[in-house]
Amino acid sequence: MATLQESFRNIMDWVDARLPVTETYEKHMSKYYAPKNFNVWYVFGVLSIVVLVNQLGTGIWLTMSYNPTGEGAFASIEYIMRDVEYGDILRYMHSTGASAFFFVVYLHMFRGLMYGSYQKPRELIWLLGMAIYLALMAEGFFGYLLPWGNMSFWGAQVIVSLAEAVPFVGTDLAVWVRGDYNMSGVTLNRFFALHVVLLPLVLVVLVFLHLLALHEVGSNNPDGVDIKKQVDENGKPLDGIPFHPYYTVHDITAVIVFLFVFCIIMFFFPDGGGYLIEPPNYEPADPLKTPDLIAPVWYYTPYYSMLRAATFPLFGMDAKFWGLVVMAGAIAILFVLPWLDRSPVRSIRYKGWGSKLFLAAFVITFFILGYLGTVHPTPGKTALAQVCTLVYFGYFLLMPWYTAVEKTKPVPERTT
Ligand code: HEM
Repeated sequence: MATLQESFRNIMDWVDARLPVTETYEKHMSKYYAPKNFNVWYVFGVLSIVVLVNQLGTGIWLTMSYNPTGEGAFASIEYIMRDVEYGDILRYMHSTGASAFFFVVYLHMFRGLMYGSYQKPRELIWLLGMAIYLALMAEGFFGYLLPWGNMSFWGAQVIVSLAEAVPFVGTDLAVWVRGDYNMSGVTLNRFFALHVVLLPLVLVVLVFLHLLALHEVGSNNPDGVDIKKQVDENGKPLDGIPFHPYYTVHDITAVIVFLFVFCIIMFFFPDGGGYLIEPPNYEPADPLKTPDLIAPVWYYTPYYSMLRAATFPLFGMDAKFWGLVVMAGAIAILFVLPWLDRSPVRSIRYKGWGSKLFLAAFVITFFILGYLGTVHPTPGKTALAQVCTLVYFGYFLLMPWYTAVEKTKPVPERTT
């Protein structure tokens, strides 16, 4: 009689002859050699997957009790919070999850900036990452309208009306996006469709391609050295270790720590002092009652600041148009990053002072812009936002220069 192990092997042989399960598992897990010097910055990719799964799972359950109509949306959220079993937990897992998503993705992107993970041959991983980021921003924006609270309403109103700044077709474009002359149940309905069907699909496909591209060229590492250059007699990288079991165990530790912090926020501070769920959103949408301050959720505020930093007309176009250009440009410029960096080295560890100072200035600026986007503009704050916007763009536009002229340190042959 066949043992359990033999039976399993027989079943796997049968499956493998029809679908390459074992081969795929080996290629991407047990025989995928990742650099052995990964540090804590390398956990945010996996954490992004964890949050994505959380958003998909809780989103499906919320959809079961949510009513995507102008008349019923706000009440259905109240119903989920009060009457659906575990509904409050589901809702908070999803709303806290949205902020957690951006938090881990921002750290994940910052790691890329630090270690030059966008440089050759990883340009496509970066581009796919940027497509994910864009889709994520759209996903968050459409989702934020769904509770049909007063900030949902006015926030979407401000952003959709930006379309009006587009020359010639602006007014028609805004009507086309809303599906109505004003924000209405029609808008809510289409945002719902995009939020629960189209964008999750796009996100899942993009993440799949992102990982496929990563496994084609292999991971970068904090030293930025190419581990494929130093291999043993079997062709295995000397500085690589199989992803499974080494990094699966390493990543599970990170996931546990992350979930611990996530649960503390979700259970004890679900509205994050007004930063995760904004106070006006506890009131239903009211077209006649503009909130005192219309500000997007924290993860969009750096761009919102840049939008508001454009205060004067230029070349016959009004300030709103230039605000839109600056905001779109701030995101678009990230796409061409791989071609702006001329440095012969990848990691910030071996780059020169120019790269270090500009990266530091970029991060500080991003935080300041983020803060400015959450408060009422004053002339002083607007001037500060304008300076920060210049620094933000300076980091990218001057990169071909400072990465080419600065003195770099020698990169070691092997990981340190
Ligand atoms: C849903 C969102 C995302 C998921 C699930 C995801 C997932 C991952 C995973 C699992 C890795 C390998 C582990 C690691 O290096 O941390 C990775 C690597 C990478 N990701 Fe993402 N990612 C996401 C978004 C982004 C974004 C927005 C960018 C940048 C625009 C980006 C750029 C990169 C780069 C450059 C690498 C290679 C890093 C290296 O080898 O040093 N990713 N991603």
